[in-house]
Amino acid sequence: MILALESSCDETAVALFDPAHGLAGEWVQSQIALHERHGGVVPDLATREHLQAFAPLLARARTAADFSRVEKIAVTNGPGLAGCLAIGVAAAKALALALRVPLAGVSHLRAHAWSPFIPRHAEAPAEFAARLDELLPHLGLIVSGGHTLLFSLRAGGSIATLASTRDDAAGEALDKGAKLLGLGYPGGPLIEKLAAGGRVDAFDFPRGMGRRDELDFSFSGLKTSLRYLLEKMPAKEVEARRADVCASYQQAAVDALVRKTAAALERGPGAGPGWRSLGLSGGVANNRVLRAALEKTARGHGLPLLAALPQHTGDNAGMIAFAAWADTAGTDTRGLDLRIEPGLALA
Ligand code: KG4
Ligand code: ZN
Repeated sequence: MILALESSCDETAVALFDPAHGLAGEWVQSQIALHERHGGVVPDLATREHLQAFAPLLARARTAADFSRVEKIAVTNGPGLAGCLAIGVAAAKALALALRVPLAGVSHLRAHAWSPFIPRHAEAPAEFAARLDELLPHLGLIVSGGHTLLFSLRAGGSIATLASTRDDAAGEALDKGAKLLGLGYPGGPLIEKLAAGGRVDAFDFPRGMGRRDELDFSFSGLKTSLRYLLEKMPAKEVEARRADVCASYQQAAVDALVRKTAAALERGPGAGPGWRSLGLSGGVANNRVLRAALEKTARGHGLPLLAALPQHTGDNAGMIAFAAWADTAGTDTRGLDLRIEPGLALA
């Protein structure tokens, strides 16, 4: 079994993964309540919380499984907040020493990239490698509070970044929009809830498309256009039309994500066979409007949509444990010399 630790941002998490069966247990301690009143993650507070949270989470993991079965420790070593990463890496080194097993550093972004494959492995663990080949090359979309990325995953596990955001991440655009509307943090789920009762065509927000042949995303114009709209609108009207504003704003973000993804699908993976699957992961992947739109896009291209399970969209250790096993090309093998890499890129 692999025992994995994650602490790159505001979730402390521990998971146990058995390659022959799947995830054997997952434990997450979220800090959302702590950071809510600050309107975003405060790095120093997050670091202290991780220090407090790991021991009880590990104690729970130990009641669920015999640690003598642990053959490897995996830990997120980047990207993320430096202090937060350091707590996880220090704890992982101590565990590797105590249990006398190897230590693997896992890229948080590569783990998000692999997370949509977790259910495929769970369905048929012994056949995972053979079936994986039938899903590659894979086009993946990672959408979170810090990242918006399109990438290709090919046979042999090589990952290439095809597009990223020039400014805000998709989740950041939703969080900032919610802040402008006085809704609270994190804004994505709050906007989705209000949007359900509104009209998507009530307001015309920019889709941040840039040039047609460019795949990169841009979300700062969306947020700015909401600010201008709210400045012009009397407070009473903002109150009365909140659902319409949320629905239109969310739709603009979803449209931008879907159109660039569709453009990448149409462009193809380059030489060799065409795309064989589309993936969706990261916190914003929880959004039902986005999921439905990408389902439709994938279907239109005759591809399966692999979406991360709800417990693996936000930050979690299940995906770290899984990546430590599935992503052999991406793990960091420096062992006890492992360093934190706060600015680590996807590829
Ligand atoms: O992956 P994640 O938990 O943390 C990062 O690594 O960033 O993603 C958090 C982001 C936040 O921006 C949050 O607003 C967004 O995911 N989010 C959503 C939904 N649930 C979370 N955005 C839209 N709709 C949702 N249902
Ligand atoms: Zn993340």
